[in-house]
Amino acid sequence: MKKGRNCKIYQNAVIFDRVILGDNVIVFPGAVIGRPSVNTKATARIISSSGPKTTRIGDNCVIGANAVIYDGVDIGSNTMVCDNACVRSGCRIGAYTLLAMGVTVNCDTRIGSHVKIMDNTHVTGNVVVEDHVFIGPLVSTTNDNSMGRLKMAINDMRGPRIKKFATIGAASAILPNVVIGENAFICAQSLVNRDIPARVLAGGAPARVMRKLARHEINK
Ligand SMILES: CC(C)(COP(=O)(O)OP(=O)(O)OC[C@H]1O[C@@H](n2cnc3c(N)ncnc32)[C@H](O)[C@@H]1OP(=O)(O)O)[C@@H](O)C(=O)NCCC(=O)NCCS
Repeated sequence: MKKGRNCKIYQNAVIFDRVILGDNVIVFPGAVIGRPSVNTKATARIISSSGPKTTRIGDNCVIGANAVIYDGVDIGSNTMVCDNACVRSGCRIGAYTLLAMGVTVNCDTRIGSHVKIMDNTHVTGNVVVEDHVFIGPLVSTTNDNSMGRLKMAINDMRGPRIKKFATIGAASAILPNVVIGENAFICAQSLVNRDIPARVLAGGAPARVMRKLARHEINK
């Protein structure tokens, strides 16, 4: 492990060898960073046999109690991974982003900068979340319409793409491969099974566009 200046690592945190911490990083008790992926063949995803990859945590990040960050993860500066959150292998997360308590992020997902993902939301594998997105609590994103039943190519799992400044209401479900447009506002408990255009309010199950957003309702 390499660490920068003024890092504070509390007792019972476990930091594996191939981890690079920037300056002023705080790691709370019980956090695990750089956890290698192992394969029992219980998972559909094929795990690289080339061994663990480096995990980088940027300057001024905070890693909460019992958070688990796998190998091959890259996190930008000033990002907060709160208590009990988990980030799986191959994820890239930007700067000034918040993963609140219990958020789970599966393999190879990209999350931008200034993103807020609230408590107990699940971001599945192969998702793209662009900068300045807000995702409410208990949202679930999905990447596999076969739900494991068909012999679909495992490499063809496609998560949603959530474009910049979009907002997703609490407890919504976002189905595989949909695109949520820039600045779109998705109401609470929506089921998003089709692409949603930019700058609209959409909601319901299945989600329908309800109206265009007024100028003052648009983030940027
Ligand atoms: C969309 C929302 C902001 C209300 O917006 P609004 O413009 O004030 O809308 P209104 O309450 O006037 O409702 C407008 C219409 O949308 C409907 N609607 C509102 N919320 C809805 C929802 N979640 N699902 C389906 N329809 C919804 C209303 O029933 C109403 O329909 P009607 O005109 O046929 O009666 C609010 O309902 C919502 O979903 N907030 C999200 C909160 C959240 O998840 N925050 C996360 C961080 S804690």
